[in-house]
Amino acid sequence: MIREIVQVGDPVLREKCKPVTRFDGELYKLLDDMKDTLKAAEGAGLAAPQVGVPVRAVHVDVEEGYFEFINPVIVSQKGEQSGPEGCLSVRGKAGIVVRPEKVKLVFQDRHGDKYSIVARGFFARAVCHELDHLDGVLYTDKAADIHDVDE
Ligand code: CO
Repeated sequence: MIREIVQVGDPVLREKCKPVTRFDGELYKLLDDMKDTLKAAEGAGLAAPQVGVPVRAVHVDVEEGYFEFINPVIVSQKGEQSGPEGCLSVRGKAGIVVRPEKVKLVFQDRHGDKYSIVARGFFARAVCHELDHLDGVLYTDKAADIHDVDE
């Protein structure tokens, strides 16, 4: 089910999100709805607070695959890249953001099993952007040259 994407100005986007502790049907429903919502919006990522639920879960849809990261933590990072970013919660804008070139992430899947993954390039950028959402940070807090774009 497609959920409404919360827009900037809503306080839920500024919350420090709570860890996921129950890997149950309620979580699966949230994650399935987030996937439907992200696919419909054709974005590269979506964090749970963007559908109004302040818990630590994000989705990333990139060349490398479609990922659900529950309770994700960046444990190491390397290098630097500068490039354009937008956000489904900040419609019609884009800006240039500096991010690490490579990040190592530890996370859980929807069953609570633990994994780690290394992301590079745009994948790393998407991971960093989505993880910021879990701490109430928007890319516009970090971006230079925020400008209007056609959607
Ligand atoms: Co965003």
